[in-house]
Amino acid sequence: MVKQTLSVMTLLLLLFFILREVEGDERLDEVKLFVFGDSYVDTGNSVNSISYKPPSGITFPGTPAGRFSDGCVLTDYIASYLKIKSPTPYVFRNSSEQQHGINFAHGGTGIFNTLADGPNMTVQIDSFEKLIQQKIYTKADLESSVALVNAAGNDYATFLQRKQGSIQNIQAFTTSLIQQMSLNLRRLHSLGINKIAVGLLEPIGCMPLITMATSYDKCLEPFNFISQNHSQMLLQTVQELNKELGKPVFVTLDLYNSFLSVLATMQKSRSEDPTLMNPLQPCCEGVSMEYYCGSVDERGKKKYGLCQKPEVSFFWEGVHLSQNGWYRVYTMLYSSLLNLNQTKL
Ligand SMILES: *[C@@H]1O[C@H](CO)[C@@H](O)[C@H](O)[C@H]1NC(C)=O
Ligand SMILES: *[C@@H]1O[C@H](CO)[C@@H](O)[C@H](O)[C@H]1NC(C)=O
Ligand SMILES: *[C@@H]1O[C@H](CO)[C@@H](O)[C@H](O)[C@H]1NC(C)=O
Ligand SMILES: *[C@@H]1O[C@H](CO)[C@@H](O)[C@H](O)[C@H]1NC(C)=O
Repeated sequence: MVKQTLSVMTLLLLLFFILREVEGDERLDEVKLFVFGDSYVDTGNSVNSISYKPPSGITFPGTPAGRFSDGCVLTDYIASYLKIKSPTPYVFRNSSEQQHGINFAHGGTGIFNTLADGPNMTVQIDSFEKLIQQKIYTKADLESSVALVNAAGNDYATFLQRKQGSIQNIQAFTTSLIQQMSLNLRRLHSLGINKIAVGLLEPIGCMPLITMATSYDKCLEPFNFISQNHSQMLLQTVQELNKELGKPVFVTLDLYNSFLSVLATMQKSRSEDPTLMNPLQPCCEGVSMEYYCGSVDERGKKKYGLCQKPEVSFFWEGVHLSQNGWYRVYTMLYSSLLNLNQTKL
C-alpha cells in the first residue's frame, strides 16, 4: 500500500517536472511578430501625428498611445491570435522588450514614397535587416517568426492627389506597386521568415473621405475597382511565389472582401434596427469642412464631434477603422490566419 502511494507520488512529481519543462520551452520558443507597412498596422511609430493626440485611444488604452483608431488595430488582434503581446514599435526598440518582435510600420507610408514623411517599406525592411546584423534575433528566432505586411493605400492616395483624382494610367501604377511588393516579400523571406501574412487592399471607395460626397450613402465603385484590381494582382503574385518556393510561406489577408462583408452585415442589422449607426459614417468628424477628427482651434477648443457609441461604429474617422471595425474584420480573417500555424503554435 505504502509502496503504491509512493509510486503514484513519484509519477505525479515526474509529471509536474515534465509539464514545467514544456511550459518553459514554449516560453523560450515563443513566436515573434515583425510588422511592416502603414497606419492600419502601426501601433506607435508615428510620434508627431494625430495618433498621439486626442481622441485617439479613447477606448484602448484610454489615452492617445500611437494608434490611428479609438483602440486596437489589426496588429494587436494578430498578436493576440499568436498569443503574444503586441510587438514594440521600432522607435521604442531600446527602451522596451523586443522578445515579441518589432513593429516597423509607420502611418502615411507606402510601398513607394508618399506625400507623408516616413520610411517606405524598403526602408522599414532595411531597419529590420540592421537588427538582424546586430544579432538581436537568431536564425531560429526568425524561422519561427511571423511577418505582417500591409501597404498600398497611401500609394494610391498619393497617385490620386498628384493626378487630381484622375485614374488614367492607374493600371501601370498598380503593376509597378505589385512588382515592388513582390521584391519586398521575397526579401523578407530571404531574411529568414517562413510565414508572411500580406494584406490585400481595402475597398478605398468605401472610405468616409470618399463617401462623404454621397453623404455616406454608398461606396464609390470606380475607386473600389482600383482595390479589386490591386488585390487580384497581389493574390496572383503571392500564389506564384508560394508555388516557386514549393511551400505556403505567404498567406493573404483579404481586407477587400472582409471590409465589404462586415459593412454588408452592419447595413443589414441597421435595416432591422434603424437606431443603429450608418456603418459608412465615421465615428469622429470635424465640425465643418475645414476641420478633421482631432482638430482644435487657436484657443484649444475641440473642433470635432464623436459618435455616441464608438463600440458599434466601423470607421473611426475618414480613412481608419475603429476598434470595433478591426475586431470584426479580424473575425472575418480568422480562417486565413489558421494558415499561419507553425509547429510552435
Ligand atoms: C539603440 O541602441 C543601439 C545600440 O545598442 C544604438 O546604436 C542606437 O543608436 C540606439 N537607438 C536609439 C533610438 O536610441
Ligand atoms: C524608399 O525611400 C528611400 C529614401 O527616401 C528611397 O531612396 C527609395 O528609392 C525608396 N524606395 C522605393 C521603392 O520607392
Ligand atoms: C481593372 O482591370 C480591368 C481588367 O484588366 C481593366 O479593364 C480596368 O481598367 C481596371 N480598372 C482599374 C481602376 O484599374
Ligand atoms: C496548419 O493547419 C492546417 C489546418 O489545420 C494543416 O492542414 C496544416 O498542416 C498545418 N500546418 C502546419 C505547418 O502545422
